[in-house]
Amino acid sequence: MKFVRNNVYLHDGIKALKHLEDESLHLILSDIPYGIGAEEWDVLHNNTNSAYLGKSPAQEKAGAVFKKRGKPINGWSEADREIPKQYYEWCSLWAKDWLRILKPGGSAVVFAGRRFSHRCIAALEDVGFNLKDMLAWVRERAPHRAQRISLIYERRGDEYSAKKWSGWRVGNLKPSFEPILWFVKPYKIGGTLADNVLEHDIGAFNESALLEYSKKPENILKCGFLPNESGKHPTQKPIKLMQALIELTTIENQFVLDPFCGSGSTLIAAKKLNREFLGFDISEEYVNISKERLEEPCQQRLSLSSI
Ligand SMILES: C[S@@+](CC[C@H](N)C(=O)[O-])C[C@H]1O[C@@H](n2cnc3c(N)ncnc32)[C@H](O)[C@@H]1O
Repeated sequence: MKFVRNNVYLHDGIKALKHLEDESLHLILSDIPYGIGAEEWDVLHNNTNSAYLGKSPAQEKAGAVFKKRGKPINGWSEADREIPKQYYEWCSLWAKDWLRILKPGGSAVVFAGRRFSHRCIAALEDVGFNLKDMLAWVRERAPHRAQRISLIYERRGDEYSAKKWSGWRVGNLKPSFEPILWFVKPYKIGGTLADNVLEHDIGAFNESALLEYSKKPENILKCGFLPNESGKHPTQKPIKLMQALIELTTIENQFVLDPFCGSGSTLIAAKKLNREFLGFDISEEYVNISKERLEEPCQQRLSLSSI
């Protein structure tokens, strides 16, 4: 099967890799499923625990609000404790092909959740990637739904415990950042990175370009959505953020892949920056949204003010 560049396909992004040539890509930039069961496509384990599938009686009763809170992190059963390991296995399904299709010195830049990103790191390291850095995307807005434990005791009529635990919550702190894992495919043994850059046009990073997005050349990227940009996908990423990452790692006309492209944010950023691109998603809805967004008139670099 031949995939034509500068397109998005309704296709499994893991199986599609088999059809991509060795050392053909300069960058894989992808916001992969985090494996936390946020949506149906994000359930990457065999656990039939109904809470993890978003289908417990309490979740069904409370509807979307409860579902959006994510699933418990308690690991109360043996099966729950398998979930992180199954996420590693899922990442291992595609890690080898990612290494194969990237050029030496090419980057794989991956959004992975805070809870299981270590499993993604281990899977990619185990096939030969180097973890170069971990960046933080600092979001403008982050939902914070940790419940006050005192309210639970009040409802139970347990005034003593409600007072004792006043100010305490169950759940997590406000999730203000998301990790961005930056991997590189190692260059030739015995060579230098400077040689690799001459041979493959890839391997260094563009600090000057980053400074057009960020005040400092640091690994914390603050970025929100432009007006009317969000709402296309439940885990959408800002185009501007994807642009910063593409400009950090590639030059014009180089080839960028997003095998889990959702509403196409990576692809739109690549198009705006005159990079070649290819995207896959298993959802027809999101592939259609990506196509529509790619057809919109293309401004060049977006305003840099809010990153
Ligand atoms: C985290 S979302 C990406 C959202 C994207 N960054 C955006 O801005 O819209 C991950 C996407 O991966 C897709 N997906 C899950 N498994 C897949 C697979 N095996 N092949 C291709 N796409 C897949 C889901 O449908 C989902 O849209």
